Amino acid sequence: MNFHVLTLFPEMVMQGLHTSILGRAVSKGYMTIEAVNIRDYTNDKHGKVDDYTYGGGAGMLMQAQPVYDAYWAVADAIANRKAAEAEPAAAESAEGIQERNGGSGCARDRQPRVVYLTPQGRTFHQKMAEEFAKEEDLIFLCGHYEGIDERVIEEIVTDPVSIGDYVLTGGELPAMVMIDAIARLVPGVLHNDESAVSESFYHDLLEYPQYSRPEIWHEKKVPEILLSGNHAKVDEWRLAQSIERTKKLRPDLYEKWKQRSESECRQDKKKS
Ligand code: ADE
Repeated sequence: MNFHVLTLFPEMVMQGLHTSILGRAVSKGYMTIEAVNIRDYTNDKHGKVDDYTYGGGAGMLMQAQPVYDAYWAVADAIANRKAAEAEPAAAESAEGIQERNGGSGCARDRQPRVVYLTPQGRTFHQKMAEEFAKEEDLIFLCGHYEGIDERVIEEIVTDPVSIGDYVLTGGELPAMVMIDAIARLVPGVLHNDESAVSESFYHDLLEYPQYSRPEIWHEKKVPEILLSGNHAKVDEWRLAQSIERTKKLRPDLYEKWKQRSESECRQDKKKS
């Protein structure tokens, strides 16, 4: 899996994502993360990437040109890499891939998904993370100031995504949140003991409570069942705790889970 982040603050992204589990995954080769500085692609001789908005209004807008050219630098590199992987001799012929909109359309066919981080997008959730984790390459476009010129968004963005109903100063933190959630689903990134499946939101239930040593802390004892060694009983207890916790903390998720289990139950009865 290859993450490509188009940003005005590449160091923020690289520092944030090269630590802990993701840092280990990068160094072991399970994924790559590159941060591309949009400013490197501006045609302005002073390095300017933003300008005033037509029609007035406060703040500056990121201009289309540097964003578009940064995007194509990444999209071309991806297309060339794929061509080289498929057949080394084909790499050369892929060089014409940057025929823009007026071209043969082959570049469009190969266009990787481009996630634009914006409060106006679809709200990110676990199922979206699972869907994105199937991609080989994902490009994240991080806006700043008052946003990005609409025309370039129309041309390159496939997935506008929000991480929640609040407004941040830029798209870098949301991109990092998404990359973290997606990366942990990539095979090899988590070790078995960090397993992705049993955690919150798997099957719409929140995670059960967990305990480590000591057995008694602040006069609170670890639930007896967890010390019993009876795995079936432990699993039963954990499921009951997950259900109870979801009902109390996230009644919306609980209703979803209940409806799904009831419908699965009906289907099982029909089959037997
Ligand atoms: N950019 C600014 N706020 C955002 C949000 N809530 N989600 C995604 N991108 C953003």
